Amino acid sequence: MKNTTCNSSSKMNAGYKAAEYVKDGMVLGLGTGSTTHFFIEKVGMRIRDERISVMGVPTSFQSLLIAKKWNIPITTLEEHDIDLSVDGADEVDGEFNLIKGGGAAHTKEKIVDYAAKDFMVIVDESKVVDELGSFPVPVEVLPDASRMVIRELEDMEAICEIRMAQRKDGPVITDNGNFVIDAKFNKIESPSHLEIDINSIPGVVENGIFSQMVDKVIVGTEESTKEL
Ligand code: A5P
Repeated sequence: MKNTTCNSSSKMNAGYKAAEYVKDGMVLGLGTGSTTHFFIEKVGMRIRDERISVMGVPTSFQSLLIAKKWNIPITTLEEHDIDLSVDGADEVDGEFNLIKGGGAAHTKEKIVDYAAKDFMVIVDESKVVDELGSFPVPVEVLPDASRMVIRELEDMEAICEIRMAQRKDGPVITDNGNFVIDAKFNKIESPSHLEIDINSIPGVVENGIFSQMVDKVIVGTEESTKEL
């Protein structure tokens, strides 16, 4: 479900740049995905080389494992407030609305990113769009509700499919034990309204539209970065 057209030096530049904003003593939200991987790695290097002291709240098993590899102390939302959350995206529009969830981690990502004092998004240039909607909206659902939710989404004129796993038979199962429906809308007129409308369907856990949450976007290019 991922956009694979981008190259990893752009993702690395974005991730490494975001790590420069990390200050000693911060509690960090650790997003999920290949771009955030570089951010977590660089934070780990700063702990090792500069002896900064930070803690991380992971948004997935993937980010937990990377954080542990780099000896980043782990904490939870129960124990700490988050100063800065850094996360990737599948699409970012001019008003900083996002589509996330290409890696099926958007539910925990939305909780952690929303809870953070500052939320920074890191992407390569291929993710920056005029309007959201080329990428389908990932919708995490309770498995028992999936047929009913698909019917409701189709009434909203989305083309839907349950995301299938690779190297495992059957659907993708999220870190929370649920299915993901990818809902492709022809046009997303209002991301904030669509975000609310999808979440109003019983059985939906969370959808991948993040509206009105982002403080800063760092776009990685092959040579450097720019900030939006
Ligand atoms: C995880 O479910 C997603 O929200 C990712 O943050 C998003 O898909 C961006 O991933 P990449 O950095 O791998 O492109």
